[in-house]
Amino acid sequence: KAGLLYYGAATDSPGQRERANLQSTYPQYDAILSDPLEFGQTTPTNGMKWLFTEPLPNVFNFTEGDIVADLAASQQKLLRCHALVWHNQLAPWVESTVWTPPTLRAAITRHITAVATHYKGRCRAWDVVNEALDEDGSYRPSLFYTVLGEDYIKLAFNLTAQIDPAAKLYYNDYGIERPASVKTAGAKRIVKMLKDAGIKIDGVGMQAHLHADVHPTAQDHVDTMQSYLALGVDEVAFTELDVRITEPVNETKLEWQAEAYTNVATACARVKGCVGITLWDFYDPFSWIPVTFPGEGAGLLWFDDFKKHPAHDAVVETF
Ligand code: XIL
Repeated sequence: KAGLLYYGAATDSPGQRERANLQSTYPQYDAILSDPLEFGQTTPTNGMKWLFTEPLPNVFNFTEGDIVADLAASQQKLLRCHALVWHNQLAPWVESTVWTPPTLRAAITRHITAVATHYKGRCRAWDVVNEALDEDGSYRPSLFYTVLGEDYIKLAFNLTAQIDPAAKLYYNDYGIERPASVKTAGAKRIVKMLKDAGIKIDGVGMQAHLHADVHPTAQDHVDTMQSYLALGVDEVAFTELDVRITEPVNETKLEWQAEAYTNVATACARVKGCVGITLWDFYDPFSWIPVTFPGEGAGLLWFDDFKKHPAHDAVVETF
C-alpha cells in the first residue's frame, strides 16, 4: 500500500534479558520474531547506543549491536540503526567529561565515524540524532546542545552522510505525531535548518510511544506526515510504536489500543512517503514501558502468555 516497505519490530540483544532478570531463552519469542509473515524489519533497542558502542573513550564494542544486525541479515530483515547522537544512555565518561566545543566536536566525530563505518552498508536507515527537542519544542539542553548549539545536529548529519551515503538519515523523536504539537513544530524546524544548510536529511522518525486513552486519529497522523514531507524529506516512518495502557488492563482499553494501532497503520498505508512501521519490541514482558512508566503496560502486541492482543489482528487486517 502506498509507499510501505516494511512492518517490523525492534528487539534487544538476549544478554539484556538476563540483566533485566528475565530468562535468557524464549523459543516462542524467537519463533515470532523470525516469522517472515510477522516482521520484515528490525531495530536494536539498545545495542547501537553510545553506552554499548563506546563504553570508554575510543574503545569501541559492537558485540551487542552486531547481535541484532546479524539477526536481521540472517532473517532477511531490513535493519534500522539506532541511534548515533542521543542524550540518554550515553557512556558515563561522556557525561563526566568537561567539554569545550572543539573537544566535543572531536568526540562526536570519532564516535560517529567508528560506529557508522562499522555498520556501513547494513543500515537501511540511521537515527542520526534522537530526541533533540524538549517538551515545549525548543532544543533540549543536553550536553551536546549546551556546548555546541544546533551545530551538533549539522555535524552529525554531515558526517553520517559522508560515511554511509546509502543510509537514509533520520531525525527521530517522540511526541511529534500530532499536527498541532509544539514538538512537531520543533521537528519541522530541525528539518528546515538542515535543508537550508544544504545538509542531507532523508526522513523524520515518529517514535509513536502512544497511550491507549488519548491517541491521534488516522487523519492526525496523515496531516503530520504530510507536513514533514512538504519540507522535502523523502520519507517518514513510525519507528518505536507502542500503545501503553494504564493498569488494570481490560477489554475496553484493549479496544482503544487496537484503534490507536489501527490509526497508525491506516495512516501509513495512505501516505506515499510513509515507508514503514516498527514496534518497539512485540512481547509485553520485554517492553520498556512498565519500567519507565510505573502503573502502565501491555503496550505491545503479545501478552505475557504469548496470546495476541486484539490490536494484532486489527493492524494486520489494515495492510
Ligand atoms: C529504551 C529501551 O527500550 C530500553 O531498554 C532502555 O532501557 C531505555 O531506552 N526512545 C528511544 C529509545 O529512542 O531508544 C528508548 O529505548 C525508548 C524511548
